[in-house]
Amino acid sequence: MRIAVIGAGAVGRALGSAWSKADHDVVYGVRTTGTQNMASFIARSGGREELGAEAVRGADVVVLALPWAQAEAAVQGLGDIDGKVVIDCMNPLTMREGVLELACGYDTSGAERLAAWIPGARVVKTLNQAGAEVMGDTSLLKPRPVMFLAGDDLAAKNIASELVRGLGFEALDAGPLRMARLLEPYAMVWINQAIIRGEGRDWSFAIARRKQ
Ligand SMILES: NC(=O)c1ccc[n+]([C@@H]2O[C@H](COP(=O)([O-])OP(=O)(O)OC[C@H]3O[C@@H](n4cnc5c(N)ncnc54)[C@H](OP(=O)(O)O)[C@@H]3O)[C@@H](O)[C@H]2O)c1
Repeated sequence: MRIAVIGAGAVGRALGSAWSKADHDVVYGVRTTGTQNMASFIARSGGREELGAEAVRGADVVVLALPWAQAEAAVQGLGDIDGKVVIDCMNPLTMREGVLELACGYDTSGAERLAAWIPGARVVKTLNQAGAEVMGDTSLLKPRPVMFLAGDDLAAKNIASELVRGLGFEALDAGPLRMARLLEPYAMVWINQAIIRGEGRDWSFAIARRKQ
């Protein structure tokens, strides 16, 4: 599958490396091509790079791994994205009086705002509920971690679920895109525990079942 990963930071690189390793055709959508840093990353981890809109052209799936504050402008610059599966990994984070918080919630979500910016795209919210390091390498996590997905387009959600499973997660359908209103605060539980409460980043959520 050809996957355009927009934003080659911690999340973009972790996901892109794992999918490259699984033989997907990964194209990183960046603002400036040809940097030394990106060249050595690609030499180590595979994939290739293009300017954002070029990366999206011909992609089956577009993964948005951008800081929330830059997301709207970046997404508007991606060109024709109609009909594409768009995986939204972003958490709409903001600082308020020195405290890290969600910029929206309860009656909307970052994912729903995103879907309003690109109404022709098939947006799926997922891969926002764990740290970049474990999303890129789940191999040492026991039991198998879980990742929820929310989206209104079932076929798009199935494609995203395959990619999520390919990373080693149990993929669980959380329902329509409006359920991102739950998945974004859920990510804040991870952030609070990992960063504020001192648990560290080397863990992920999992489901405990009485019967397998
Ligand atoms: N870090 C985590 O563990 C984690 C986990 C789950 C979800 N998330 C969410 O994932 C998103 C990305 O987080 P991150 O930690 O990967 O951030 P990051 O390391 O800061 O990377 C963000 C990347 O976005 C790029 N970027 C910004 N504007 C762009 C544009 N117009 N076109 C192309 N690239 C652009 C930046 O490139 P430049 O170098 O050019 O600035 C940078 O490489 C955030 O919304 C975050 O909340 C993060």
